[in-house]
Amino acid sequence: MKISNIAIIFSAMLCFAGCAKTQTQPAAETSETVQAKQEISSKKALVVYYSISGNTRAVAKQIAKITNADLFEIETKKAYPKEYKQLVKEAKKEINEGFLPELKTMPELDSYKVVFIGSPNWWSTITPAVSSFIKNADLKDKAVIPFFTHGSGGMANCNKDFTAQLEGKGATILDAIAFRGESSGAPEKDLNAWLEGLGWTKAKAANETDAAAKDDSESGKRK
Ligand SMILES: Cc1cc2nc3c(=O)[nH]c(=O)nc-3n(C[C@H](O)[C@H](O)[C@H](O)COP(=O)(O)O)c2cc1C
Repeated sequence: MKISNIAIIFSAMLCFAGCAKTQTQPAAETSETVQAKQEISSKKALVVYYSISGNTRAVAKQIAKITNADLFEIETKKAYPKEYKQLVKEAKKEINEGFLPELKTMPELDSYKVVFIGSPNWWSTITPAVSSFIKNADLKDKAVIPFFTHGSGGMANCNKDFTAQLEGKGATILDAIAFRGESSGAPEKDLNAWLEGLGWTKAKAANETDAAAKDDSESGKRK
């Protein structure tokens, strides 16, 4: 095979990896991950996310809606520059220096056994705000599920760095997913397939919807 042909195939493969709209990364299967997946549908979840232009927020809201979870948005005390070039520069500096910005508040985590954590891909890694959250959060004995949004670079080092930052915190990390960032959120089919792989059952969601509908109709009858 000619070198030029090999080069074309190689760049096509790279593009396939990076340009894929949805990318998943299964966590290594351990007794903890198996147990967490069995329990996931029966525990109330919290969806924690950071988002500067809304794409990760849109996915977080979709996850919360499907799984009937609560939502928490991570916010930094100091705002990032509004101008995109300045933001990109500031982000690069913070990531290179390992700077952890101060957060406005932390959520109450005690009542949750399942915590989804979402970050945009910044310079191929997670945002400093999400790193700050991980540093400050007590995630011991919780199932933690990472999700990411990106421009076109895919998951890159996001899951690897996320996992490294959680080391020693006593959390069980489950399968990660990355979506190409869209203000409309993620493709429902991909979201559902990922959640089902995590042990989330549509049947339970359907039962809850039925129960909620029944409650509504019962209270309607009483009016
Ligand atoms: C500072 C900065 C750095 C970024 N770096 C990358 C990157 O390395 N690779 C990539 O695919 N997208 C990159 N993006 C694009 C974002 O990951 C993407 O637009 C994401 O969906 C934004 O999420 P948000 O709308 O929730 O803030 C970057 C965006 C910003 C603002």
